[in-house]
Amino acid sequence: MSDITYNFDNMLAERIGPGYGITAEELEQAIERSEAGHAAVQARRAAGKLHFMDLPQEREVLARLSEIRESRPWVKHFVVVGIGGSALGSIALDHTFSSTTTSPQVQFHCFDNVDPEELHAFFQTVDLRETLFNIVSKSGSTLETAATFLLVRQELKKKLGTDYKKHLIFTTSNTVGLLREVSAAEGIEMLVHPDDVGGRFTVLSVVGLFPAVWMGIDVEKLLDGAARMDERCQEPFASNPGQQFAALQYASYVFKKQNVVTMMPYAFRLKKWPEWFKQLWAESLGKQYDRQGKEIRVGQTPTQALGSTDQHSQIQLFNCGSRDRNIVFLQVEQFDHDLIISETPDQVDELAYLQDKSFSQIMTAEYEGTRGALVENQVANSTLVLPDISAYTIGQLIYLLEYATAVSGELYNIDAFNQPGVERGKEIAYKLLGRAGY
Ligand code: PA5
Repeated sequence: MSDITYNFDNMLAERIGPGYGITAEELEQAIERSEAGHAAVQARRAAGKLHFMDLPQEREVLARLSEIRESRPWVKHFVVVGIGGSALGSIALDHTFSSTTTSPQVQFHCFDNVDPEELHAFFQTVDLRETLFNIVSKSGSTLETAATFLLVRQELKKKLGTDYKKHLIFTTSNTVGLLREVSAAEGIEMLVHPDDVGGRFTVLSVVGLFPAVWMGIDVEKLLDGAARMDERCQEPFASNPGQQFAALQYASYVFKKQNVVTMMPYAFRLKKWPEWFKQLWAESLGKQYDRQGKEIRVGQTPTQALGSTDQHSQIQLFNCGSRDRNIVFLQVEQFDHDLIISETPDQVDELAYLQDKSFSQIMTAEYEGTRGALVENQVANSTLVLPDISAYTIGQLIYLLEYATAVSGELYNIDAFNQPGVERGKEIAYKLLGRAGY
């Protein structure tokens, strides 16, 4: 089984010039800082402060997750109710592993909003007798999740009476929160959300693994991939893709003022990972103060695109517009399935070039074309190369980006694990809705 690699040559001055490319001296500085960042992360981990890094080794819970699945053969719809870090990893896993499956045994749904029409449509079409709801909230009190849970509970009770409980499983803190109280009061089964892992770092905990079991994903392989990347993220810079990613993004932001990072997979199945990455990068690294309380206001804006679709949309901007971004491609070396064009019309010569071409060949040509044009236009870009799309490589990808986020926190000297900017809007909404104490 092979490893993800990170190719960042096209971010360097020797490829795209010193105006937009990182020079040798700048790279050296970024590497030096990232060595210190890497050491600080390892020290914090050794002190037990970075639990998310140890999740690939924690497998005791897997047996229980499978038991829960086996005990509910009637489930045809599995629904995550959660938001932010409690939802985005599951959404990306589902898209990766179910979007190209013609008849998944269990259909996945996620409610990470409070849109009445979306919920209405669901309750109109889905048979609740075949539906299991996983209510995911670390704090157990998030407004959107609480509201949707109450609606789900009310609909379940209406249709199934006292049986409603077996259609609910909570993933929440064992020490705080309203869900924990409801679980105890009503006897609803609960999985323990680790208190010391922030939402956006939880996809490899029960938060992502329980939905993954329902999606039929090989969760052992997912964790094996993450564990493999954990090993590699302990190596020196030259063979540590997580540290490379953090250092290159830091250099791009600090030295080249590339304030935007656009993740662009060249694979439909990877389409949702940029959404997950956006939250990870933005919520962790968009900070007003450094660790000493000095105002610094840092943070790249993560955005997303999809190859080849966006070649007919945003690429115009990437090539010719403002110079404030770098692009991170996700490229897949080997697709699980391929298709070949075996016949072209004799009368139309212009189509002959597609004769005997496979779709993976066309996709690769599109990727190389985009990359080549960006280099000609001196636009910084790099590529995370995935050998294939499997649980093992997705586990690697998740761990690489989570680790890079932790190292980036050290590079900017900020707390990558809090989110004070999220709180104020919540307080105002609670006040408007009349919640006690707000
Ligand atoms: O990453 C985070 O910490 C947040 O995005 C949370 O996941 C999100 O706010 C939901 O919080 P909770 O799981 O407490 O409902």
